[in-house]
Amino acid sequence: MDNSIFEKTDHYINSLFAPEEEVLSGIEQSLLDGNSKMPLGGISANQGKLLQVLAKMCNAKTVLELGTLGGYSTIWLARALPAGGKVITIEYDENNVAIAKANIAKAGLTDKIEIRTGKAIDILQQLKAENKHTFDMVFMDADKPPYTEYFALALSMSRPGTIIVADNVVRNGKVLEENSSDPAVLGVQRFNKALSKNKAVTATILQMVGLKEYDGMAIAVVN
Ligand SMILES: C[S@@+](CC[C@H](N)C(=O)[O-])C[C@H]1O[C@@H](n2cnc3c(N)ncnc32)[C@H](O)[C@@H]1O
Repeated sequence: MDNSIFEKTDHYINSLFAPEEEVLSGIEQSLLDGNSKMPLGGISANQGKLLQVLAKMCNAKTVLELGTLGGYSTIWLARALPAGGKVITIEYDENNVAIAKANIAKAGLTDKIEIRTGKAIDILQQLKAENKHTFDMVFMDADKPPYTEYFALALSMSRPGTIIVADNVVRNGKVLEENSSDPAVLGVQRFNKALSKNKAVTATILQMVGLKEYDGMAIAVVN
């Protein structure tokens, strides 16, 4: 099968359901111009729209995101929230934080998005210690080795019906490699196994093809 069909179909779907306005379509360039270490690491437009659909399905008002990069997924998520809604997004690279802040300001969403700068594990523990956060939706898209620990902390700040999405859990099919030494593959293998056994949630993994590499998202709803 010619794999370009996936890319062409993604363009078709995006044009119907997820057209990007200028701020979103300019984020990759803003990351390149700002010398980000991973300018092409964001989700696709249709994946952004999927996050919006999920946010609406759980009536999300408060969203937690791990891994801001240039703010692309953050902006999609923030746009799905009602007045007074908030996304708290975590990013440890200060250069990415500066780029994201500029993009979020351009999108007119500064009031709806709070960036916490630091290592995800530290900020998650900080948020938990603050003892005032119950998130309606969580999007995990930072480093993969601690996904299991991130999920446990996210779960501890959830309610029944909270949706937790974890990106990049298929990794071009490398998740099947039994003797992998890739820390990201090992991280998602450990996470996927733990998630499949977690009785606190109902979960599965969706494989994804399209403009981005062959990958997938784990989607869980808290019981
Ligand atoms: C895949 S990118 C996020 C893409 C973004 N969610 C989007 O779709 O537009 C991962 C981001 O997580 C950040 N990151 C990686 N490990 C982290 C950690 N331990 N703590 C906080 N941020 C981290 C990286 O600097 C990078 O910006």
